[in-house]
Amino acid sequence: MIINVEAVPIEQVEADALVVLGLEKDAGRGAYLSRANELTGGWVDELYASGEFNGKALEIALLHRPAGLKAKRLVVVGGGKTPVDARRAAGTAVRAMKSKGVRSIAFAFDSEAAAVVEGALLGEYEPDRLKSERAKPVDTLTVLGASEQEVRRARIIAEAQNFARDLANEPANLMTPSVLAQRAREMAAAAGLECEILDRDRMTQMGMGALLGVAQGSEEAPALIVLRYKPDSPAGGGHLGLVGKAVTFDTGGISIKPSDGMEKMKYDMCGGAAVIAAMRAIAELKPAVPVTAFIPAVENMPGGRAQRPGDIVRTLSGKTVEVLNTDAEGRLILADALSYARTLGCTHLVDAATLTGAIVVALGHVNTGVFASDEALAEKVLGAAKSAGEKMWRMPLDEDYQEQLKTPFADMPNIGTRWGGAITAAAFLEAFADDTPWAHLDIAGTAWLDDAKPYLAKGPTGVAVRTFIELALGWST
Ligand code: BES
Ligand code: MN
Ligand code: ZN
Repeated sequence: MIINVEAVPIEQVEADALVVLGLEKDAGRGAYLSRANELTGGWVDELYASGEFNGKALEIALLHRPAGLKAKRLVVVGGGKTPVDARRAAGTAVRAMKSKGVRSIAFAFDSEAAAVVEGALLGEYEPDRLKSERAKPVDTLTVLGASEQEVRRARIIAEAQNFARDLANEPANLMTPSVLAQRAREMAAAAGLECEILDRDRMTQMGMGALLGVAQGSEEAPALIVLRYKPDSPAGGGHLGLVGKAVTFDTGGISIKPSDGMEKMKYDMCGGAAVIAAMRAIAELKPAVPVTAFIPAVENMPGGRAQRPGDIVRTLSGKTVEVLNTDAEGRLILADALSYARTLGCTHLVDAATLTGAIVVALGHVNTGVFASDEALAEKVLGAAKSAGEKMWRMPLDEDYQEQLKTPFADMPNIGTRWGGAITAAAFLEAFADDTPWAHLDIAGTAWLDDAKPYLAKGPTGVAVRTFIELALGWST
């Protein structure tokens, strides 16, 4: 897509659609909307007075051949009051116009140019790569009153998020651990990152028994993908480690899942996809902190060599784990990845994983659950999420939850009791992060949209990509 930054009066903008933001009445009327009102002889006044449009988030109104404007259509989209709404407003306008065959869109929003570019690019995305007839893309985006620099940055971020969605959207027959590793390698070569892939033999030598135990039921070889970003002149002493769960398909293994809805488990690699994609943007935006990414990639299958409930594995940390449920596999592969990240000198760890159904029960599809062993890191992550416009909510993680993780046969079981399942999963991971400050994002409820929103297609959302990028860019220790 071509993105133009322009500084012309709105009457001179040439586009299939010119979109202006219409806020709620008490939030005031922006300069662009006022100007559009003047040019059209009071169309905006009439629109609000009619009660058909109130500026609420995602409302939309359209005028053809607007008087005094060069654009073919004038579109007013409801922006509510907040930056999140500006992002969604732009996405809504793009999706609504796209379905009408509009190919060029100009945005005249009074502020939030970055959110507009991000929202537009995210709204434009369709998960239809494998359809014979694909949706026609919007090919030109014009943004009024923005700086080239903020548009460049927003574009890098949104394109990274769409890259994560592309990776996650691939079906599991086409996106195996080896394919994911290959995609990461290609990305790294293009972006100038170091990339190292640990194969099964290497992981066996090192003693990653938890990761290998999950992988052994599948014909697909596992991979531990490592990506390194090194700043030219690092500031501060920190070294950020990003870890992402990439189960390319989760059948549950021998503790097999019900077949109903199992097709969704191709998205069990969204944490890994988010980390790979964030690294691409980090390579371009060059924060001052070193960042290393760890993506354990496996397929969880119930093959003849699959691990059984009751099997005991030795993790890289030396701790033994009794695998009471083979469907609690994400925490097993993350355990070894977290230990490995520690041995490579990461001072702070943040992971993202579609880890538990329980987080969906707790927070629904709205907020990502945030767990942390360290208050300062929790603040950093939540702050980054807020600036990035991603909704996240802190969950508790106190000592008492560790009580559930006891077994007479090994150092730990891989599941707790029925209750507080998202928290016991986090408590399990915490044991492997050990004394390294660590935060965990459970994205099981937010990584996938079951139904399209006006501003976003059905399917993978690319959640956590923006938060990771923001976290690295704003890093200070
Ligand atoms: N990948 C799933 C978690 C999940 C469930 C993601 C639903 C998205 C939607 C994870 O590997 C899993 O199966 N977790 C189990 C844990 C249980 C066996 C303790 C779960 O949540 O049911
Ligand atoms: Mn599972
Ligand atoms: Zn899983």
